[in-house]
Amino acid sequence: ATITYVTHDGEDYPAPVTPGRSLMQIAVDEAIPGIDGDCGGEAACGTCHVVVDSAWIDTVGHSTDVEEGMLSMHPEREANSRLACQMTANNEWDGLTVRLPEFQL
Ligand code: FES
Repeated sequence: ATITYVTHDGEDYPAPVTPGRSLMQIAVDEAIPGIDGDCGGEAACGTCHVVVDSAWIDTVGHSTDVEEGMLSMHPEREANSRLACQMTANNEWDGLTVRLPEFQL
């Protein structure tokens, strides 16, 4: 199963879905540029912002209250924005695409 991170300038970075790892951890494991994960996954830094492809938002779900604190400060926030550290991978994610903002917080 594969997920794809798309950078703000349109480069695709495929990565393996590792069930139980967060979308942020997978990006860091794979050295995907554009996701930092500075707080280690505590929803406290806002450096793991992604925008979920609209075809996938019902599968992965919208942002939770704990994410809103950081997302609301992000200038590139969109309706389908999520904090990648708050998204836990599972095998249903095969084909998931997320877009990375130009800048993280
Ligand atoms: Fe810090 Fe997600 S890694 S908010």
